Amino acid sequence: MTRRNSRWPGFYKLSVEDRRRVAAEALGMDVADLIAAVGDGGLGCERADKIIENVVGTFSLPFALALNVQVNGEDFIAPMVVEEPSVVAAASNAARMVREGGGFTAEADDPIMIAQVQLDEVHDGAYACQRIKQCANELIALGNSAVRGLVKRGGGVRGLEPRDLGDGLFVVHLHVDCRDAMGANLVNNVAEAVADRIQELVGGRMGLRILSNLCDRRKVRVTCAVPSYALASAEFDGDEVRDGIVRASRFAERDPYRATTHNKGLMNGLDAVVIATGNDWRAVESGAHAYAARTGKYSPLCVWRADGDDLVGNLEIPLSLGTVGGPSRVHLGARMGLRVVNPSSATELAMVAASVGMASNLAALRALATEGIQRGHMALHARSVAIAAGAIGADVERVAQHIHALGDVSLEAARLTLIEMSSSLSSAAPPSE
Ligand code: HMG
Repeated sequence: MTRRNSRWPGFYKLSVEDRRRVAAEALGMDVADLIAAVGDGGLGCERADKIIENVVGTFSLPFALALNVQVNGEDFIAPMVVEEPSVVAAASNAARMVREGGGFTAEADDPIMIAQVQLDEVHDGAYACQRIKQCANELIALGNSAVRGLVKRGGGVRGLEPRDLGDGLFVVHLHVDCRDAMGANLVNNVAEAVADRIQELVGGRMGLRILSNLCDRRKVRVTCAVPSYALASAEFDGDEVRDGIVRASRFAERDPYRATTHNKGLMNGLDAVVIATGNDWRAVESGAHAYAARTGKYSPLCVWRADGDDLVGNLEIPLSLGTVGGPSRVHLGARMGLRVVNPSSATELAMVAASVGMASNLAALRALATEGIQRGHMALHARSVAIAAGAIGADVERVAQHIHALGDVSLEAARLTLIEMSSSLSSAAPPSE
C-alpha cells in the first residue's frame, strides 16, 4: 500500500475551512465526511446516552492533526484530541526534525494482555503452582472457549503463569493475545471462565478475576536518531541543543520529580492520539506510570543520548490500544481518528501513538534546554487567554499577539488590551449623526 505524505508545510497557517479541504483531499475522503464526524464533536447526546449512564449532555475537545510523522519509513497523519495549546504544534515540529534522521523506528510485542485470577487462603503455594502448570493445557482450552470469536481471528490464550505472593495469596496470570482489540472485555471473560476450575485445582477462597493494566507483555519500543543540525534554532547551534537535551534526560533519570514532568510531556502527545482514536487513556496512563516505576524508582520512559553528531532517543512503554470495539463503534470522532491514522493493525496504531509521544517529549526538552518553554507555549496559549478575556473573531488573534509581545500572557493584560482596543476604535470612529 502506498502511504500518504504527512509533510504539509504551513498547514497551521490555513483557516479551519481550508485545513479541512486540504486534509480531506490528502486523506482521500469527502470533506463532508470529515465535517460530519468531527465538525461538532463527533458525538450527539443521543449517541452519548448509549455509551455511559446518567447522560445530560456532551463535552467537546479540539480534534487536530499532527503532521510530519514517519514511522518505519511510512508517513502517518496523527489525530490528536487535547485541550492544551502548543502540544500539536510541538509534536509536528519535533516529528519534522526526526524526519531528517529517517523518522521513528518502532517495534511492538504481540498484543498480549494479562488476566489475573486471585485466590486467598491457598496455604501450599508451591503445590498450587505445580497443579496449575500440570493443568495448563486444560485451563488454556477453557479460557479459549470463552472467547471463540477471538480465537477465530487468530488470538486467544497463549499461556499462563502461577504466582505465589505469600501469606496464602495466590494468583494465576493468563496471557491473552487480543489481536486488534484493546482487550479488556475479552480478558475479563477469560478470567471469569477459568476461575472456578482454578479454585477446584488449588483450593482457597475466590478473589478477583480481572485484567491487569500493567500490560508489560504488550510493549512498544521506539528509537530515533536526529542529526544535530535539525535541532538548531536561531539562537542555538545543533550540538548545543543536542547536549542540552541529553543533560535534561540525565536529570530525569536521576530525579523522580523531574521524571514525572518529563513523562507528562511524553503523555501530552501519546494520550492525545489515544483519545482521538477512541482508546482508554486511563488504562494507558496507569500502565505507563507503573512501568516507569518498575525498578522501584520512578524513571523516564524515554531517554536521550548523543551518538556522534546525532541525538538518539529510546522509548519503551506498555501500550494497550485497539482498532476494533470500544467507543469506535459509536463515536464518529473516534472512527474518524482511526480513519486518519489508517493503521494496518492495533499494533501499528500503538507504534504511531508512541512515536507521537516521543516527538512531544523531544519538542518540550528542546525548548526547555534552550529558550525555555514559555515563548513557544505562551504564544499559542495567548489565544485561549484572549478568548477567556472576552475577545471574539479577529480580536482573538490581535489580543493574543499583543499580550504575547508585552510578555504578559495574563487574563488581566488581555482584558486591558481589549478595553484599549475598543476605546481606540470608538475614538477613531466618525461621530454618529
Ligand atoms: P517554531 O520554531 O516557532 O516553529 O516553534 P516554526 O514556525 O519554525 O515551525 C516549525 C514546525 O512546527 C512547522 O512546520 C509546524 O509543523 C509546527 P511547517 O508547517 O512550517 O513545515 N508548528 C505549528 N503547528 C501548528 N500550529 C502552530 C505551529 N507552529 C509551528 N502554530 C513551537 C514553535 C511552539 C512548535 C516550538 O516552540 C515548540 O515546539 N515548543 C515546545 C512546546 C511544547 O512542548 N508544548 C507542550 C506543552 S508544555 C508541557 O506541558 C510539558 C512540559 O512540562 C514537559 C517537560 O517539562 O518536559 C514542558
